Amino acid sequence: MPVKNVTRRKTLGQVVVCMGCCCGRTDKGHPDVPVDWLKSEWRRTLPKSIHLTVSGCLGPCDASNVVLLLFGDNPVWLGGLTRFEHYQAIADWADASREIDSLLPLPAVLEPFRMERFHNLEVPLEV
Ligand code: FES
Repeated sequence: MPVKNVTRRKTLGQVVVCMGCCCGRTDKGHPDVPVDWLKSEWRRTLPKSIHLTVSGCLGPCDASNVVLLLFGDNPVWLGGLTRFEHYQAIADWADASREIDSLLPLPAVLEPFRMERFHNLEVPLEV
């Protein structure tokens, strides 16, 4: 199917950090999400290369502290991020990818947090 819409704001990818009804809500027992630090890091190094979005609920609240990494047709869902170092690894990965203008493999420290978001990945996208 031909692409109909075009943006001049193309990026290598997009990092969507959930801060909805559960993620980051320490008052509900969830680990903190260092949103201010992430925004500061992005302003400092990554404003146009990889887009940062702080979102409302992405859906899988039970995974707690969810991050969605969007690049091309290969979204990666992470859940259960508990430590500042996890978010730091995301920022470092994004910055290193920016430096070479190409996405690097995700850092090994993030691999245990990958999750399947959808229960039937065999469904064709075109209906
Ligand atoms: S609040 Fe993050 S997935 Fe619902």
